[in-house]
Amino acid sequence: MLQDSKGLDITTDSTETIAAINGFIDCSLRYGQDAEAMILQGIRADPTCAIANAYAAAYYLSQESSIARKHAVLYLKAATQHLQQVSERERLYISAIVAWAKGSICQAIAYHETIAQQFPQDLISVQQGQYHYFYQGDELGLLQIAETVLPENQEDPYLLSMVAFGLEQCHRLSQAERLGRQAIALKRDNPWAHHAVAHIMEAEGRLDEGIAWMEELAATWEDCNSMLYTHNWLHVALFYLAKVDLQTVLTLYHEKIWHRARKNSPKDQVTAISLLIRLEIMLLRLGMSEDIIEESWEKLVPYLLPRLHEHTLPLHDLHYVYALARTGRIEQVSEMLVSMATHTQRLEPRQRGLWNEIVIPAAKAMIAHASGDMQGTIDDFKPILSSLWTIGGSSTQRHLFKQIYLDALRRDQHDDFSHRLFASVEKLLHPKKNVILRSGNRA
Ligand SMILES: [Fe+2]
Repeated sequence: MLQDSKGLDITTDSTETIAAINGFIDCSLRYGQDAEAMILQGIRADPTCAIANAYAAAYYLSQESSIARKHAVLYLKAATQHLQQVSERERLYISAIVAWAKGSICQAIAYHETIAQQFPQDLISVQQGQYHYFYQGDELGLLQIAETVLPENQEDPYLLSMVAFGLEQCHRLSQAERLGRQAIALKRDNPWAHHAVAHIMEAEGRLDEGIAWMEELAATWEDCNSMLYTHNWLHVALFYLAKVDLQTVLTLYHEKIWHRARKNSPKDQVTAISLLIRLEIMLLRLGMSEDIIEESWEKLVPYLLPRLHEHTLPLHDLHYVYALARTGRIEQVSEMLVSMATHTQRLEPRQRGLWNEIVIPAAKAMIAHASGDMQGTIDDFKPILSSLWTIGGSSTQRHLFKQIYLDALRRDQHDDFSHRLFASVEKLLHPKKNVILRSGNRA
């Protein structure tokens, strides 16, 4: 039995495995590029180390693709084969990853909460707990699991960035900014803290400040994994989009998002699709041709075809199906809708209700908008507008759906009528103050 850099017990005699685990955890917390290589190195040094195998499984599950999931299952099997001697924390952690792999997200969260209470130094467990809360749409849970371990980690820049993001999602913006800036003062190379502060500036309409903030820090993102690299640049692009600087948005899409994306990565694909939809809505609103992004849509499609039957996350499916419909892949759209319905039947009752009542209607609304059917978009989205938080994702990510709905209203109605509708729809959606929408209204 040895200890990691936080003094947590690891069941192994290999100092090489311990070094690799320390590297993996640090890399994961700073969203670096080498997490996979590091943990695999640790497993090679001691294939019997249960938690190292569980860390690898968690890494692959977080990639959110069916191929990565197959890797995860193999490493999870190895982890559970070596459970006999492990410590209580390792057992809890491995149980959390087993629950994740089974799709029992509430159970996984319960294990991460227990770890947070009993072993507050275990920050990768907190990060993974936040991941689950994020995709459950549970903003308070996202904040509270990080706050649980704050007393023991007040000087840890990564934990402070997690608390800052949780505070921002709970609309406690001034506290969030204080924590985010504190995290960066402790460690400037901390892209999750940069991201949290960008969210605050976006929510408060501080466009020029947001651009300056992110562009000054962007040099530190070179070692970022592609998910946060492209996502942080998405936030920069959204600031420019709100300023109606479409040429810069296009340049950022090509050079910082699509060029740097791992083309097979679901997260990177969702980021690219999200920006293309928003850009297209703005182009149409300004009466400009969407032809300049036609090729970008087409380039995405080959990478989406393996996604049709995955159904890893509702948020992702809604993006994929939009891109397929937008590019006229009628057969694939039908195939994916049938697959979503089949998937829904296999889920436990609570999840089945979510997919039946929210996700599939939202998918139909996305398909309708992408196909130019504005009335269909309105009909499918309107009954579920106030429930869309249940599909998870950040407030910024979910704001896409509001933009699509409002665009459908604008294009389906006479302008005077649609302008009056904007106000009532905004009330219905209980939105945060959001500059992008307000900018769109002015445009
Ligand atoms: Fe974000």
